[in-house]
Amino acid sequence: MQVQWDHVIRNGMIVTTDQIFQAHVYVKDGKIAAVTAEALGGTAREETDASGCYVLPGLIDVHVHSRDPGATHKEDFFHSTQAAAAGGITTIFEMPNTNPPLNNVENFHRQVKNLQEKAHVDFGIWAICLGHLNLRDIQALHEAGVIGFKFFWGYAVNSKTYQLVYNYKVGMEDVIPPFTDGEVLEIFREVAKTGQILAIHAESSDIIHHLTKQVERSGRRDYEAFLEARPNLAEVVTVQTGIAFAKHTGARLHILHVSTGEAVDLVKQAQAEGYPVTAETCPHYLFLSNEDYPRIGPAMKVYPTVKYKKDQERLWRGIAEGVVSVVCSDHAPHTEEEKDGDLWSIPAGMCGVETLAPLLLNAVHEKKLTLQQVVAVLSENPAKLFGIYPQKGSLQVGTDADITIVDMEKRYTINRENLRSKSKITAFDGFSGTGMPVATIVRGQTVMKDGVIIGSPVGRLVTPL
Ligand code: DOR
Ligand code: ZN
Repeated sequence: MQVQWDHVIRNGMIVTTDQIFQAHVYVKDGKIAAVTAEALGGTAREETDASGCYVLPGLIDVHVHSRDPGATHKEDFFHSTQAAAAGGITTIFEMPNTNPPLNNVENFHRQVKNLQEKAHVDFGIWAICLGHLNLRDIQALHEAGVIGFKFFWGYAVNSKTYQLVYNYKVGMEDVIPPFTDGEVLEIFREVAKTGQILAIHAESSDIIHHLTKQVERSGRRDYEAFLEARPNLAEVVTVQTGIAFAKHTGARLHILHVSTGEAVDLVKQAQAEGYPVTAETCPHYLFLSNEDYPRIGPAMKVYPTVKYKKDQERLWRGIAEGVVSVVCSDHAPHTEEEKDGDLWSIPAGMCGVETLAPLLLNAVHEKKLTLQQVVAVLSENPAKLFGIYPQKGSLQVGTDADITIVDMEKRYTINRENLRSKSKITAFDGFSGTGMPVATIVRGQTVMKDGVIIGSPVGRLVTPL
């Protein structure tokens, strides 16, 4: 009997972290059935000619704020997953600072339903750590299948909605102040018991509050002053404490969106000592520095802040050394109106899920990293770190047929108007580069081809194995 393949991807150059070779990929029942230079018999429901292109294991963005539910005027899961598909991403991990937040199992199940019907790509769901407010929910969240635990270190939260308070001041009403180190230690203990990742937003609120008051008194409002108020030190002390807590409790610590060279050094040291401490960074820290602020303006405001050239250089070396093992977008859209204002008072964050892969592919041409390293930091490493490898992050036979096809010669210009997100704020508007995803395939189904989104939402929840 003739085999009927779901999908055959012909003549591409397969890229894994250890090999590049020409082969066809055969997909059956949503799984990779064969990767071979031989032409197998049978018929194909769908065929893709990948001649002249590279075939990568589906790319993963571990850090996306789709703001769904809660702030869907800024973004929603339908738009963010279309943006992901357009940018070659086959799986995203959704951040838990939604409204309601992802703080208990009931909200987890509700969120799975909510996201499922809008998902153009597969998705994992982060849980939020709210100190004493949900210590008793951690184990159940783990068992329910969250992808990891996130703690926004240094943030105050609203006492009724548990929303993050971005510009906390002492004495605000209905606000639970940032947790003390003792309370944070409890969070580390509780998450350590699950064996899952504890990811931290690492900025010291103490230092930031103190320095912000000082800088505000000076009357300076420019980006350099802003960096003095939210300096490298704010990240350094939190990463240092986090590593000490991880050593003490055995938690698997992941440092989110690393922005400083010093943090890379600290993570490197902890890794050398054998501790399970990992780090991610984002394109804005890799491609921008304070020197770009005059050109870009408030679109560049993000927390942690974009720092200096020397940090950028250390981050690239961190990737080369394998110390920074994940690159992600920290996709965090806000509306035009919200972002249009004074640097100090507008919200932090920008779009990123759609531009993550194109920016890194262009960096391959600039010899900042290799295409195989792109596969490592955008696919294999995140999949391994979060316990979904080899189902995701590989092209091994029997695993999910998540595939990103890239044309390394395709020129592009990022134009904010063309972004699929609801809000269009990006620091990379007008940037021209070379190297684009031209097809995104989720479990064998094409969800993007040549920049066009195809079909209705097919995405499913991904849980650690
Ligand atoms: O810039 C940021 N935006 N940093 C964060 O930590 C949160 C995010 C958001 O949700 O807007
Ligand atoms: Zn974030």
